[in-house]
Parts: sequence; structure tokens; C-alpha cells
Amino acid sequence: MEATVWEGVLREGRDLYTPNRGPPGDRVYGETLRTVDGVEYRHWDPFRSKLAALLVKGGPPDLWRGTRKALYLGGAHGTTVSHLSDLLDPAPIYVIEKSATAFAPLLALARRRRNLLPILADAQLPERYRADVGEVDLLYQDVAQRNQAAIFVENARATLARGGRGVLMLKVRSVTQRRPATSIVRETRAELARGGLETRNEVGLAPFARDHVALVTSAP
Ligand SMILES: C[S@@+](CC[C@H](N)C(=O)[O-])C[C@H]1O[C@@H](n2cnc3c(N)ncnc32)[C@H](O)[C@@H]1O
Repeated sequence: MEATVWEGVLREGRDLYTPNRGPPGDRVYGETLRTVDGVEYRHWDPFRSKLAALLVKGGPPDLWRGTRKALYLGGAHGTTVSHLSDLLDPAPIYVIEKSATAFAPLLALARRRRNLLPILADAQLPERYRADVGEVDLLYQDVAQRNQAAIFVENARATLARGGRGVLMLKVRSVTQRRPATSIVRETRAELARGGLETRNEVGLAPFARDHVALVTSAP
């Protein structure tokens, strides 16, 4: 296995791996485990995780560099959260999820990892959790809602530190079915800019995640 430009991520051929920071032998979503020189690694599937898809499609090398605390919106069952947990450990990751059904496995995952702090809440209401979360260096959002850009801007305003980075996994078709993807992406970037977030990278996630564009932002 070889190191990559993304801190902590290893690669063998086209396959990405993260070091397992959960209990030895623990699988989160049926991923393959491999041990090299006494370290256990988890295969990171870009078809299952949009963050892995972003890396494979050319995501910037400094995405989580220097992150001391992160906020993740839309944790679901924790597939991507678990890999970010591997990469950021011991830095804490607050994970917001509004579905009680998805929250149960997320909570179970957090019990097996020291840096995951799940909160059952609606990401549209950051005032409900901003006092608990405090200031973060990395904001990640994957909620597939019509008002994705507004949710991202509000959460950045509530929690993102000066110079902090953001990753918005924009599900284009959740915004509207009626206009072309390019115009939705353009409008989303403009809405982020009005909220003080400059888009540094725009990366389409096909063929791994259809209808998705990752927008990587930096705050002033
Ligand atoms: C596409 S899934 C996320 C997948 C996950 N990020 C991963 O890669 O493993 C979207 C999740 O966002 C959650 N969600 C949608 N709207 C939300 C909101 N307003 N607040 C919090 N969670 C939300 C959904 O319940 C769902 O679990």
C-alpha cells in the first residue's frame, strides 16, 4: 500500500483505505479489512461514500489538513462518518442526523469510536446545537434537501471558524427537476458566495454518485 496526497489515506492500485480507528475487526458497512505491518485498514468504496468519490475524482489534498474539530450534517448510518473518524482521530466530529431510524445505528457506531458525537437534530436549526458544537474547522454536508445551500450557509455562519473549509455534497435533482444541472450549480455557488463562502473546487461525482456535485469552499 502507498501513501496518497490526502493525509491518512492509503491506496493500492485504484482502491482507497483508511486505518481502522474502531475496535479491531470491526466492519461498519461490510467493507473489506486488510492488515499491513500490524495496522488494520478499511477499504473505502467511492460507490458507497461521496467523500471517497470526491478524492478519486480529484479532490484537493488539504481537505481536512489541520482539522481540530468537524461538523458533519446528514450522518445517516455512518458510512462516510466512519472513514472521517478514522482520518481525524482524535479530533472530535459532531454528527447531525434528523431521522431517528438512521440515528440508532449512528449512535451504536459512536459507542465504538472515541471521536464521534452524534446529535439527533434538524440541520435547518443550527441554533439548537451550536452551543454544544462550538467552532469547527471543517463543515461537511450531505442532506439531499431542496434548500441545501441555505442549510450550509446557516451552519457555516453558526459554527465555521475563520479560514475553515466546507464540503457541500450538492444533490442537484433535490433542488429542482425543472432546470439544467449547470444552472443549479451556478445558483448554488452564488448563494454560497452571498453567504461569504467562496467555492474553491467544483467536482462532479459521476459515475460514483449520480446527480451529485461536490463544492469545496473556504470561509474568509
Ligand atoms: C444521503 S444520506 C447521507 C449519507 C451519508 N452522508 C454517508 O455518506 O454515509 C442523507 C441523510 O441526511 C439526513 N437528513 C436529511 N435532511 C436532514 C436535515 N435537515 N437535518 C439532518 N439530517 C438530515 C437524512 O435523514 C439521511 O440520513
